[in-house]
Amino acid sequence: MIGVFDSGLGGLSVLAAIARELPQADLVYLADTAHLPYGDKDDDYIRSRVLRIGSRLVDQGCGVIVVACNTATAAAVAAFRDTFPELAVVGIEPGVKPAASLSRSGRIAVLATVSTARSERLARLIRQHAGSVEVRIEACPGWATRVETLRLDDPAFVAEARQHLTPLLDAGVDQIVLGCTHYSFLSPVLQTIVGKQAELVDVADAVARQCVRLAGAHAHGKGRLTLLATAHPERLQAALPALGLNWLGHRQGSAAHLVIA
Ligand code: DGL
Repeated sequence: MIGVFDSGLGGLSVLAAIARELPQADLVYLADTAHLPYGDKDDDYIRSRVLRIGSRLVDQGCGVIVVACNTATAAAVAAFRDTFPELAVVGIEPGVKPAASLSRSGRIAVLATVSTARSERLARLIRQHAGSVEVRIEACPGWATRVETLRLDDPAFVAEARQHLTPLLDAGVDQIVLGCTHYSFLSPVLQTIVGKQAELVDVADAVARQCVRLAGAHAHGKGRLTLLATAHPERLQAALPALGLNWLGHRQGSAAHLVIA
């Protein structure tokens, strides 16, 4: 069984990529909706949440766990691996490396939560993979929560997104990294703003391929999906059609349910 988790809906973008790659795998998705957003919390808080969620996924029988959250990966994946050495763990990091190699202008940007934007892990990733390009880190407070409302193309949000993106485009940025899994669901809106001036870089498919590499026997099951949430499981359920993921719901044995963590 493969467990995938995030603070809320964002990791569904990664879950969908995994479900496409591994149609036979049994998947569990856990949204820590009682504690979202993670992006404005401190590292200790995020670490304690992530370890609790990990325990719940182990209780469910997961042997592979995908941390489908950049914020949680930056703050807590090392502690997670130390605490659960028996698990295969896949984290997610902003696609700085592909963006740097694809950039023709030599200028890229990373959109991320406040926590990821200030993280040492992102700074290190940039030092390692983007030494030859100029990188702008743009914290986007409130964007993950916007996705949770499912009002993705609200005019007020479009105006706010434009304010973040226009200076980046004016500076010649041609690759914009979606450094938070929630932002995948904002791609259509962001794409309208950036037009042909820049490409959006999303690593959900790359994470799914890494999951395939580590899955081993966990790739084989009955193709089931269990949805769990620490609050409002009905909203997680309702989000599937709203996010264009109705097809994932066909794998479910029962409706999303509440888990205490
Ligand atoms: N989806 C998460 C990420 O990739 C976190 C969003 C949040 O809870 O702030 O960073």
